[in-house]
Amino acid sequence: MHFKIKEHIRWVGKIDWELRHFHGQEYTTHRGSSYNAYLVKDEKTVLIDTVWSPFSHEFVENLKKEIPLDRIDYIIANHAESDHSGALPELMRQIPDTPVYCTANGLKSLTGHYHQDWNFQVVKTGDKLNIGARDLIFIEAPMLHWPDSMFCYLTKDNILFSNDGFGQHLASELMYNDLVDQGELFQEAVKYYANILTPFSAQVTKKIKEVVALNVPVDLICPSHGVIWRQDPMQIVNRYLQWADTYAENQVTLIYDTMWESTRKMAETIAKGILAADGGITVKLFNVSKSDKNDVITEIFKSKAVLAGSPTVNKGILSSLAGLFEEVIGLRFKGKKAAAFGSYGWSGESVKVISEKFEQAGFTLLNDGLREKWNPDTQAVENCFNFGKSIGENLKS
Ligand code: FEO
Repeated sequence: MHFKIKEHIRWVGKIDWELRHFHGQEYTTHRGSSYNAYLVKDEKTVLIDTVWSPFSHEFVENLKKEIPLDRIDYIIANHAESDHSGALPELMRQIPDTPVYCTANGLKSLTGHYHQDWNFQVVKTGDKLNIGARDLIFIEAPMLHWPDSMFCYLTKDNILFSNDGFGQHLASELMYNDLVDQGELFQEAVKYYANILTPFSAQVTKKIKEVVALNVPVDLICPSHGVIWRQDPMQIVNRYLQWADTYAENQVTLIYDTMWESTRKMAETIAKGILAADGGITVKLFNVSKSDKNDVITEIFKSKAVLAGSPTVNKGILSSLAGLFEEVIGLRFKGKKAAAFGSYGWSGESVKVISEKFEQAGFTLLNDGLREKWNPDTQAVENCFNFGKSIGENLKS
């Protein structure tokens, strides 16, 4: 089913209500997603992006109901990742000579994916494609979030087609930002930023400033996932500027795993200590072996400090926490404080291992960490409480 954005602009994508994992199994999509593609009709007709390959047949058949395929003059491939380019092979089999506009890196990625000698037209920032009364202006957006990523701007209608930028994994038939639940919308938007765009925050800021400096009106931002930003579209741009700038709320997150509850008891007592020092701070606890990894990463993104705990196992830490650190190290969070804790029975290396991982991830350690032997006794509980209290006081100052 297609819907009309304007008389001459149609959304021709696919809403995927069933999607629960994205990027293989790496990213959870509790609320589904959509693959947004757009058809713009002027003197020339342009298709902007396609959909993920499992829906390619459905996409092309639905597109035919909108327009005879041979009347599509240009195809814009803003991004080669297969959730947006996946229907190109099916489409290009039927209209093989239609030009495909992409960046130089897009050419490499599309060729690398599909090994086809399509009629590629390489564009760079500032290049224009006239389609009649309107121009499409191309804006390269490297590392937002692939080297090939590109935005394009439609004059006269003042629409920014931003591809993954400003997107959210959110399935909705309502399609516009002002029509959906705002809590769900921003939860999915920040999760997307935290889990995918964090490492590229410097490029996010630079690109937004570059686009704002063009001083062009933006009436709609049409991303390639989720809803279209129609009401105050710049609100998501401003949120991105905040998220890209060493973002932190007044929150501490404790992430841990536990074998026989000792490290869990430590976590809960440390949390009490933090709150005793600062009753106004948000403290959240996650047993990472029982929690959604991407949701936990979103909470880490929102935190000014993260405390991680694990018992010592085979001179190391539990695999759930080790796996999470692999992601956290790659995401390169900035400006966050950290501390380690954990119980042990004999060798007791976990606190040192966790502290090293925090340093590798670019976090600033608040202290040397806290380790307690066996099941916490009265003295150990007091130590945990005081450890938390001192962290709470430190974060308050
Ligand atoms: Fe939505 Fe980078 O693909």
